Amino acid sequence: MYLGLDLGTSGLRAVLVDAAGTLVAAAEHAAPVSHPAPGHSEQDPAHWIDCCRAAVAKLKAEASQALSAVRGIGLSGHMHGATLVDASDNVLRPCILWNDTRSNSEAAVLDAAPNVRDLSGNIVFPGFTAPKLLWVEKHEPEVFAKVSKVLLPKDYLRFWLTGEHVSDMSDAAGTSWLDVGKREWSQTLLDAGHMRADQMPRLVEGSEVSGHLRAELAAEWGISGPVVVAGGGGDNAVAACGVGCFREGDGFVSLGTSGVLLAAKDSFAPAPETAVHSFCHAVPDTWYQMGVILAATDCLNWLAKTLNDSPATLAGRLPDTITGPSGTLFLPYLSGERTPHNDADIRGAFVGLDIGSSQENLAQSVMEGVSFALRDSLEALKSTGTNLDSVLAIGGGTGSRFWLESLATILDLPLRLPAKGDFGAALGAARLAMVADGADLHDTMTPPQVAETIDPRSDLQSAYDESYARYRALYPSIKAALT
Ligand code: XUL
Repeated sequence: MYLGLDLGTSGLRAVLVDAAGTLVAAAEHAAPVSHPAPGHSEQDPAHWIDCCRAAVAKLKAEASQALSAVRGIGLSGHMHGATLVDASDNVLRPCILWNDTRSNSEAAVLDAAPNVRDLSGNIVFPGFTAPKLLWVEKHEPEVFAKVSKVLLPKDYLRFWLTGEHVSDMSDAAGTSWLDVGKREWSQTLLDAGHMRADQMPRLVEGSEVSGHLRAELAAEWGISGPVVVAGGGGDNAVAACGVGCFREGDGFVSLGTSGVLLAAKDSFAPAPETAVHSFCHAVPDTWYQMGVILAATDCLNWLAKTLNDSPATLAGRLPDTITGPSGTLFLPYLSGERTPHNDADIRGAFVGLDIGSSQENLAQSVMEGVSFALRDSLEALKSTGTNLDSVLAIGGGTGSRFWLESLATILDLPLRLPAKGDFGAALGAARLAMVADGADLHDTMTPPQVAETIDPRSDLQSAYDESYARYRALYPSIKAALT
């Protein structure tokens, strides 16, 4: 048995799978996020431990025998968060999360520093880890002086599980301190970020052993044998492991809180000028490129909340099939944007509202706006020479047929829908544990069964292309209006 732990922003999901990768039991526990000031987004690392304890307790109640047979644990986590600990491993302040934009100006300074983009392979986005530490140095110097280690969220959970300070390549790639091509900490980048090598955790590949479960926890959970803890990875890399996406040409689109279009790469092919992210994968000698939009289902959640409705009910009021674009355009920049604009200050807009615009019209515009933003990411990927013939579609937003057909048509890409089952980051984490425990990587990281392929509607292609061109033209005007 293997335990996959997926530490998401809104909570932790734990899955128990057998050696064939089949789900045996699953449990979840929610974690709160706090926004103490505009643009600030924080979490107390103690909640991650509470979540893990609670989720494993649920597994124990439901499947104690399966839990007692666990041989390996894999970890997935939301990326970029800065968990700062002192020399006694006490947490110094709440973790500053990936969607926190307070270090906007520090990010711009670091991004312009010599060699930073070349070595890290990426723009230094405000959500990345390095600018957060520069912010702490400036605004909380007493905290900065005490930082003994900086741990990414799932690496803090690993520290609790194993007692070791370790990170993996895929998560470390999102710090702006890693030489992403060489897969090692870069002294040049650490210097630029005012950090020291001894403040960094040891690095392993995601599919390697990072340590072993502490004896007290093993006893508490009723596990007798030794349990390896795999390196694991950042959530998108691990989700890619969950859907067997690690060869050149493999890709997926994820309609989650944030939206991602990811393409696996067998070489390091950075293109920071396009605002495409280039990170190490969670398996050796592999990288991936991705476009990231900061609000995907978050936009529909926002609209539903504003209309006193639930996102599922709102989405459910749209038909299963599309008939052409909405007359109203929606810019989904509710939390700023990464790809392609790298703009923490931009905000969203509805353009072209009509006296007759209904709630359904607004929901349609929101789904189209998010799809247009993902088309921007696809165009950015294409401009680097990355081409995808079709992609898997995952994430909560794929529950809407209307959204899927809009997205397939706007991207002009067939979307493959996995058959129902657990195929996300929690499964990817369990798969990394299997490989760390000796299983063959290629036999383990298989793609899911495809239930159905949603093809682009070629009859409506030109109408959506025209709408996309109008969407593209709006960013500079909205930017000017907000500045
Ligand atoms: C990736 C990113 C998000 C977070 C949260 O760069 O910021 O995917 O990992 O899910």
